[in-house]
Amino acid sequence: MKSIFMLIVCLMASLFSHAATDEEKALRFRQSVMNVVGYSAGNMGAMVKGKMDYDQAEFLRHAINLNAMLRLAQDAFVEGSNVGDSKAKDIIWTQRGKFDQKLEDAQLAAQELINTLNNADKSMVFEQFSDLGKTCKGCHKTYRKR
Ligand code: HEC
Repeated sequence: MKSIFMLIVCLMASLFSHAATDEEKALRFRQSVMNVVGYSAGNMGAMVKGKMDYDQAEFLRHAINLNAMLRLAQDAFVEGSNVGDSKAKDIIWTQRGKFDQKLEDAQLAAQELINTLNNADKSMVFEQFSDLGKTCKGCHKTYRKR
């Protein structure tokens, strides 16, 4: 009987020690979302650089996923969630309006990339991908630690 009780105590303790705070959850969510953004951009970048054969359908699939992740990202910057190994800078929350504008710029560029993929030739797709890349750098430069 006593050993069952101890087992339950141990189980409870391990459950609680693994319970993440809201900030830690937000951080994990954000890093997951951003890693998918990076994955999709990496694949498209490889096609642009000729390291992978250009495949319009694949490019479109990555662009759609990237766009969806950037739209999720707007829920992922919970105030105070630059904890642990986060690279998010405090000024995200002191300049929230400007930060949100940067995110919107990236979302619009990703949407435009999708539109371009549906209508235009490869060179225009690559040009729009480069414009999207500028919006990533434009935010990272100010709001992400090196
Ligand atoms: C509005 C601002 C913003 C935009 C736009 C943005 N990012 Fe980020 N990104 C961040 C911040 C802030 C972090 C750090 C998050 C953290 O660690 O808490 C980050 C993290 C990342 C990471 C995780 C790994 C790392 O080095 O921190 C990748 C990969 C990434 N971004 C890629 C991209 C790509 C590719 C784009 C453009 C398609 C993009 N991001 C657009 C703000 C942005």
